[in-house]
Amino acid sequence: MATNTNFYKQVVPDETCDVIFTSMTTPWLEDSVPPLRSSVFEVSAVEEELRPFQRASARCWEKFLLLRAKELKPEGVDDREFFAARIAEAHRVWSNASFRSGLSDTRTEEEKDAVLDQFYDIFRRRVAECDPATYRSEYLMSRLIVQKKMI
Ligand SMILES: C[S@@+](CC[C@H](N)C(=O)[O-])C[C@H]1O[C@@H](n2cnc3c(N)ncnc32)[C@H](O)[C@@H]1O
Repeated sequence: MATNTNFYKQVVPDETCDVIFTSMTTPWLEDSVPPLRSSVFEVSAVEEELRPFQRASARCWEKFLLLRAKELKPEGVDDREFFAARIAEAHRVWSNASFRSGLSDTRTEEEKDAVLDQFYDIFRRRVAECDPATYRSEYLMSRLIVQKKMI
């Protein structure tokens, strides 16, 4: 689909879209803001200069979301089984080999497969029971560094 409007206006009629996706576009603000003087990048600019950006960003983001909310069909799909299966697959990609190497070699390869299948199936079912509004799948990495002093 192509349109000749911009996303700070309604792009498609009310309740016509199942999914709306945008990639690297929302940093473009509708409001003009004074240019930064303390830095080229906002991450290193002084707080005072950032305030107009922060106010404009909040207003534009709200406008963007309210427009998209009109365009999306109501009653979005809540397919927890599908979501849970995709999450389990995604985690299996990076963790399967590590878990497999932790299984005793007294097990046959088939037995290892069966243990891992069961493990990821339990994980999938637990995710399917979660509330999508509160489920958080971001990884949390923490490090514990311990030093032993030789005396
Ligand atoms: C960084 S590019 C990303 C292009 C593409 N989405 C991608 O991921 O490669 C940002 C694009 O957003 C467009 N854009 C900026 N403000 C827009 C607006 N209000 N409505 C529609 N497009 C806009 C710009 O013209 C630019 O082409």
